Amino acid sequence: MPLTIVDHPLVQHKLGLLRDRDTTTRDFRLLAGELAAFLCYEATRGLELEPTEVRTPLEVAPAHRVSGKKLGVVAVLRAGVGMLDAVLDLIPVARVGFVGLYRDEQTLMPVEYYCKLPGDLAERDVIVLDPMLATGGSASAAIRLCKEQGARRVTMVALVAVPVGVARLAADHPDVEVVVAALDRELNDQGFILPGLGDAGDRLYGTR
Ligand code: PRP
Repeated sequence: MPLTIVDHPLVQHKLGLLRDRDTTTRDFRLLAGELAAFLCYEATRGLELEPTEVRTPLEVAPAHRVSGKKLGVVAVLRAGVGMLDAVLDLIPVARVGFVGLYRDEQTLMPVEYYCKLPGDLAERDVIVLDPMLATGGSASAAIRLCKEQGARRVTMVALVAVPVGVARLAADHPDVEVVVAALDRELNDQGFILPGLGDAGDRLYGTR
């Protein structure tokens, strides 16, 4: 399973700000969106282009446009919603789906409570958004739901992951590419990423 860690200086700078416990809810939301856009830029690097022409004010110029498959973006509730708008700014024609999953605090197993996906996922490359890849259970379940709906090419975009979560995805979905800003050290006993950035959903929406 291909894993891309985006080490661009601006990504690493913004990730440091995102991790900071003193970053406000407002700035956390802003940074999560900015990072999502950078990661999406990497995640779409393989899109195929086809030649076209455009009429400039002076003459006709050769140009390119994205060809082939269309795109779908699937946000994992809640925290994936904090990445969605920035990604849609880059890919405004993408169809959007939502998967509602929360992690049981005792078992750490994902519990599904909502699923609304575009009906034509088989015709689309799918990008799944969730800031945290911890045990990998939520991401794995979200990707499974997309595949059950026909998706064949899926890319997982997370802000922070840990090796155990990446290994889980590699086992469950070896065909899925994973794009992250950082691969952190480990999970603690409560399933929190260390050093991590805390609970992304709570920090995005001020619910702690
Ligand atoms: C967090 C996070 C992921 C999941 C990651 O969601 O946003 O969805 O946990 O953990 P995993 O890799 O071990 O499955 P949470 O359950 O806190 O729900 P929320 O986004 O609604 O806050």
